[in-house]
Amino acid sequence: MTDSTGPARATTPRGLPAPPPAGATALPPGTYRGSLVLVTGGGTGLGKAVAAEFARLGADVMIVSRRAAHLEPALEELARVSRDGGAMTAAVCDIRDPDRIAEVFDAAEAAHGRAPDVLVNNAAANFPVPAEDMSPNAWRTVVDITLNGTFYMTREFGRRHLAAGTPGSVIAVGASYAWTGGPGFAHSAAAKAGVKNLVETLAVEWGPYGIQVNGLVPGLMPHEDMTGDIRANLERNSPGGGLGGDPDHDVRQPALRVGAPRELGWAATFLASPYARFISGHTLVVDGANWQRRGLVSPPVVTVREQMGRGPFREGP
Ligand code: COA
Repeated sequence: MTDSTGPARATTPRGLPAPPPAGATALPPGTYRGSLVLVTGGGTGLGKAVAAEFARLGADVMIVSRRAAHLEPALEELARVSRDGGAMTAAVCDIRDPDRIAEVFDAAEAAHGRAPDVLVNNAAANFPVPAEDMSPNAWRTVVDITLNGTFYMTREFGRRHLAAGTPGSVIAVGASYAWTGGPGFAHSAAAKAGVKNLVETLAVEWGPYGIQVNGLVPGLMPHEDMTGDIRANLERNSPGGGLGGDPDHDVRQPALRVGAPRELGWAATFLASPYARFISGHTLVVDGANWQRRGLVSPPVVTVREQMGRGPFREGP
C-alpha cells in the first residue's frame, strides 16, 4: 500500500535517456556488407549522418549532392567510419532534372558493380516564407526538389529492381508537418505531405515485387550544416539558443533533450534491414514526441509575419 506520509520519491523529470555513444550500432556488424546504399543530399547534415551509419555496418555508399564541394570532405568522413572495406563514392546531380537520374544509377552500378539495394531520399529544399510573399518560382523550386526529385529517384530505383526481379528498400525523409501543416513553410509542408503519400502508394504498388517503401521524420537534431534560415528560426524562437546541447532547446522538447543525428541514422539502418522486412508504407517519426505537443491553451499566437520579423503585407512585385 502507498503511504502518502512516507518518504518522497524522486519525481524530477529527467527526460528521455541519452542515446548510446557515437560509433555504437544496434544491428550486427556487417549487416549491410555487400549492399549498396544511395543517399541523396548525403554530403552534409542529417543525410551524411544516415550515410555514416550504413557505412559503419559495412555498406558501400554512394552520396549524391547538387554541390560537388560537399562531396569530397563527406567521402573522407564516411571512409573513416566504414567497416569491412565498403567503397564510398559520390555523384553530382540535381534531382530536379529527370534526365540526369538514370545517369546517377548507371554511375552507381559502374562504380559498385551492383544496383543500389537501398535508396535514401534525403535531399530537400526549404526556407521560411509567409505564403502571401512566396513567389510561384519559390513554391515550384521547393516542390520540385523535395517532392518531384524524390519521385524521380524512387521511380528509377523501382524500375531497375522490377526489371531485375530483385528486392530493395526505399526510405524517404519526411517532416511532421506533413500531418499538421507547416505555417511559414507552405511549400515544404505540402511537398512533404506528398512524399508521405507517395510512400504509402508505392509500398502497396511495389510490395508484391519485394520493394519496401518507408518514410522517416527527424525532429530537432542540431548539426553543423544547419542552414542559416534554420539557425535564425531557432534563435528567434529561443533567444540566445545555439546548437547542440543548448539547455534552452532541450527544455522545449518533451524528451528534455534534442536528438542526435546518429539516432536518425540508426532508425534508417533498422528500417532498411532484414529485421524490418514487414514494415512498409510506414512513416516513422524520430523526434521524442515533440510533434505531438498539443494543448487547448497554447502560447499567444504570433503571426508568421511577426515570427519572421516582417512588417505588414503590402501588395507589390
Ligand atoms: N525566401 C523567399 N524566397 C526564396 C528564398 C527565401 N529564403 N530562397 C529562395 N527563394 C526563392 C527565390 O527568390 C526564387 O524565386 P524568384 O525567382 O521568384 O525570386 C526561388 O526561390 C528559387 O530560388 P533560387 O535560389 O534561384 O533556386 P536554387 O535552385 O538555386 O536554390 C534552394 C533553391 C531552395 C535549394 C536554395 O534556396 C537553398 O540552397 N536553400 C538552402 C538549402 C536547403 O534548402 N536545404 C534543405 C533544408 S531542408
